[in-house]
Amino acid sequence: MTQVGANKDLPARIKIVEVGPRDGLQNETREIPTCVKVELIEKLAEAGCRFIEASSFVSPGKIPQLADNAQVFRAIRRAPGVVYSALTPNLRGFEAALAAGADEVAIFASASESFSRKNIDCSIEESIARFEPVMAAAQRAGVVVRGYVSCVVGCPYEGAIKPAAVSNVARKLDEMGCYEISLGDTIGVGTPRRVQEMIETVAANIAVDRLAGHFHDTYGMAAANVYAALEMGVGVFDASVAGLGGCPYAPGAAGNLATEDLVWLMNGLGVETGIDLDRLVDCALWISGRLERQPVSRVARALAATRL
Ligand code: HMG
Ligand code: MG
Repeated sequence: MTQVGANKDLPARIKIVEVGPRDGLQNETREIPTCVKVELIEKLAEAGCRFIEASSFVSPGKIPQLADNAQVFRAIRRAPGVVYSALTPNLRGFEAALAAGADEVAIFASASESFSRKNIDCSIEESIARFEPVMAAAQRAGVVVRGYVSCVVGCPYEGAIKPAAVSNVARKLDEMGCYEISLGDTIGVGTPRRVQEMIETVAANIAVDRLAGHFHDTYGMAAANVYAALEMGVGVFDASVAGLGGCPYAPGAAGNLATEDLVWLMNGLGVETGIDLDRLVDCALWISGRLERQPVSRVARALAATRL
């Protein structure tokens, strides 16, 4: 009989990629001073985050919120053992990220043609061709590259996306040499069975330990989707402190699963994250205060209430 509380088939630890400073802040309407971004990144590292997507090097016309990317990278006080990464859509972005001191970069494609055109102004195929020189330059520079696939369950313009479409794009990123492929439910419409079906299709070609889950929490299903992916053997998850964020090209989509919610879930399961939940909640409350709102994270709000 299975023992209650036994960690059957769950990993001993997971890797968390903190995307709040990028995925979170890219969607803010108000201007955020560079020093606040820098302090956020430093507080995340102090809470134990070891992989932090600090900014993106994209067109400032498209994402003005992160136009101070190089200043942010240059100003952060680096904590030992922390990887500070950047999202890069093309060679120009890669070169700028490298010059600013990014340790790692991420390229991003979509499983939906319409989203690809809205987000990066080209077809899926053109985007893959655009990433070739990025991969070659990264290889020369000894920089590892992560790959994202967006709209892995649904697209704001096309509706449901077939798992085979996700698998095709993930495979291309894998063949190009991405060391890890993050599967993005950009608009947060996934539910556990649907997510498992998608992962099963992708994992037919790519080892599951090289896949990551990136679940936006629009419908409140992100934690359930993490658990569903965990059951499938996925051990890397993206999350955003205080649940910040969304994508300007995915109207109405909420931020990623809040990092506090992910850590709370893993603490409850006895799965190690390396993150100090108390310090993370401090960080969530601090950035929410700077943005003059409550954290969307239920865990952050509940733990804040117990402190009163
Ligand atoms: P384009 O119009 O095809 O390219 O855009 P272009 O070469 O004609 O350039 C357009 C303008 O951008 C030009 O400036 C370029 O100089 C400039 P202008 O002449 O108009 O003044 N430009 C750049 N500037 C700075 N850095 C660069 C750069 N490249 C061009 N690297 C492009 C193509 C990809 C550049 C554009 O569409 C773009 O930047 N898109 C990024 C959109 C974005 O960041 N979206 C959010 C991130 S994706 C996401 O959130 C999803 C994810 O979280 C996963 C998930 O949730 O599923 C990752
Ligand atoms: Mg995202």
